[in-house]
Amino acid sequence: MPYTRTVAENTIISDDKSLLDVDFIHSYLVRAYWCAGIPRATLERAIEGSLSFGIYQDSKQAGFARVVTDSATFGYLADFFVHEDFQGKGLGTLLVGAIMEHPALQGLRRFSLATRDAHGLYRKFGFTPVRAPERWMEKSDPDIYRNSVRRPPA
Ligand SMILES: CC(C)(COP(=O)(O)OP(=O)(O)OC[C@H]1O[C@@H](n2cnc3c(N)ncnc32)[C@H](O)[C@@H]1OP(=O)(O)O)[C@@H](O)C(=O)NCCC(=O)NCCS
Repeated sequence: MPYTRTVAENTIISDDKSLLDVDFIHSYLVRAYWCAGIPRATLERAIEGSLSFGIYQDSKQAGFARVVTDSATFGYLADFFVHEDFQGKGLGTLLVGAIMEHPALQGLRRFSLATRDAHGLYRKFGFTPVRAPERWMEKSDPDIYRNSVRRPPA
């Protein structure tokens, strides 16, 4: 049973993957600062393996986010965006709010995210800087999509 909420006039948020406009999502994320160049097939796998949310105004998709989670102890909020045509009207705030209320995301011990400049948006929902950064490690390959782009033969 999909989780679908009417959050404002003509505006819904849903985790129903069949509603997602993957062309729209890919056309945004392929130029986003955190995953520029992401192949469409990689995005499709990510959507499939995540709790994936769309926000829609008059049935047109305006934004997207996904949560990588075990639905019990941990969640990671990723690929959160509101398209430029819809920014600054409260949709990002509504989307974070609906995600925080999702039944599969209650009682998590840790909910993480990374952001360059949208800290204010998440702070309202209780997110804070990492308390003990010295305990955290990562294995990161930030150029993976750039490096995997096939270059034409010289
Ligand atoms: C960050 C983002 C999701 C906010 O969505 P939105 O619908 O514009 O958000 P809201 O209207 O609910 O406003 C939320 C906050 O974002 C700020 N904001 C609004 N429009 C913005 C814009 N065009 N650029 C940057 N910040 C903006 C608001 O000032 C508000 O901050 P406040 O709560 O401190 O007042 C959206 O601007 C976006 O997709 N940006 C580019 C992608 C990105 O940075 N994603 C987050 C990666 S973690």
